[in-house]
Amino acid sequence: MKRFYIRTLGCQMNMHDSDRVHELLCDAGMSPVDAPELADLVVVNTCSVREKAESKLDSELGKLRKLKTSRKGAMVLVVAGCVAKQRGQAMLDRMPFVDVVLGPDNLMSLPRLATAAAMGAPPTVATDWDVDQPTFLRSRASNEGLRPSAFVSISKGCNERCSYCIVPSTRGPERHRPASEIVDEIQELVSFGALEVILLGQTVNGYQDPTGELGARPSHALSDFGALLQRIARDVPRLARLRYTSPHPRYFDPSVIEAHRQLEVLCAHVHMPVQSGSDRMLKRMIRRHDRAEYLEAIRQLRRARPGLTVSTDLIVGFPTETDDDFEQTLSLMQEVPFLGVYAFKYSPRPGTAALRLGDDVPDSLKAERLARVFDLSERCMQQHLEGLVGTSQRVLIEEPNARGDGGVSGHTDRNEIVHVEPSGGLRVGDGIVPLRIVRAYKHSLVGELDRTDATVKNNLRYRLAVVSGEP
Ligand code: SAH
Ligand code: SF4
Ligand code: F3S
Repeated sequence: MKRFYIRTLGCQMNMHDSDRVHELLCDAGMSPVDAPELADLVVVNTCSVREKAESKLDSELGKLRKLKTSRKGAMVLVVAGCVAKQRGQAMLDRMPFVDVVLGPDNLMSLPRLATAAAMGAPPTVATDWDVDQPTFLRSRASNEGLRPSAFVSISKGCNERCSYCIVPSTRGPERHRPASEIVDEIQELVSFGALEVILLGQTVNGYQDPTGELGARPSHALSDFGALLQRIARDVPRLARLRYTSPHPRYFDPSVIEAHRQLEVLCAHVHMPVQSGSDRMLKRMIRRHDRAEYLEAIRQLRRARPGLTVSTDLIVGFPTETDDDFEQTLSLMQEVPFLGVYAFKYSPRPGTAALRLGDDVPDSLKAERLARVFDLSERCMQQHLEGLVGTSQRVLIEEPNARGDGGVSGHTDRNEIVHVEPSGGLRVGDGIVPLRIVRAYKHSLVGELDRTDATVKNNLRYRLAVVSGEP
């Protein structure tokens, strides 16, 4: 087995997990390839958050079965992630052409089990959660291929019981990583050139320090997240940008708000899922916050950090959602307004509490509501982006653009996406660059190097200029 291919479905956790699997397989002497047809080992990292994701997986696995048959079985197929955990042995019973079924906490065993499968071992299932001794996959930082923006996991699993959500049963109970390990990983990433870190957790701001190393928790704090942010800022002063995802509205306690007030390293953007603008729906969703509390969290964040932008997740067509409930979602969108909305049609999931509420909103009505959400969200976004034309923005150059023509793109501190044309002459690795915004698209901006900016005029390296805070 020499060549591997990883297909990733699902959220940032899965992207992060897949990146770590990529490193593990490289460490085991294998090399990545761009298509399953070229690979000896194919890993599909799966998501089961909505039924659509699962059916997409089944059709992909059907194609991989054909590929494997055409190669007379000379290909190892691993199904990893949330569907693997959810289905377990049933996955093998239904799809005997799969070699290894691996839950999110068993990825470290992937090289060993895939190698065994290649040598003829029978199909295996490993889907236990590491509840007693949780381990966290850590990036193998190196000079090679390090991205300017890196994920760092601070907790895994989820103790909330949102009634629609399958994640607690795929990722397990919440477990938290020691603060020193988190800081250590960030320090290492920064020493190899990362400028931005995105802390990951399902309810990331509910972080509880498992070792007590962050000290006594102030009486107003609901979690140790504020203290963790302070610790990272103190111990990794060269970090240029710090983000986190996804926070739960009920954990924005005064220490997190204070961190946003004090710490320049924290970006002026928060992705805070709300799911619905209707209190009746929020109650049925068991979200444990209401509309007013959500808006209050945003008000406080914006008071602490003027100009802070907010993006969100929304579900339309949750059981019994009326036109009036839905109108309240639209009115919340106008009240905030959001810069970025990820909206989904409600999808009943196995084992979730909402199943007993039925699924009474017809698909056509869900589709209509979804379209209205997107329409409003695009109008808010466009208005916001058009207002930025002519301004200068500091943009972290993160990746080559999707066209692959030599252009690059990245984000502002407030999370607006900015593209630079190939003629702009910038490349990934240029760091945080001042860009003059010349055009607004529907979802993104186009910028050119701002030659009036002191960092550019003095021809300093942009990244150093920003990290040290000096022009
Ligand atoms: N832990 C994160 C997100 C988890 S899943 C959080 O709580 O914010 C990502 C998003 O998928 C959720 O925010 C929700 O909007 C959506 N989602 C989850 N379950 C869903 C379901 N059954 N149907 C439709 N959307 C769902
Ligand atoms: Fe799911 Fe709710 Fe946990 Fe998010 S907080 S993962 S939506 S149960
Ligand atoms: Fe999907 Fe699992 Fe993430 S269900 S959204 S990949 S936590």
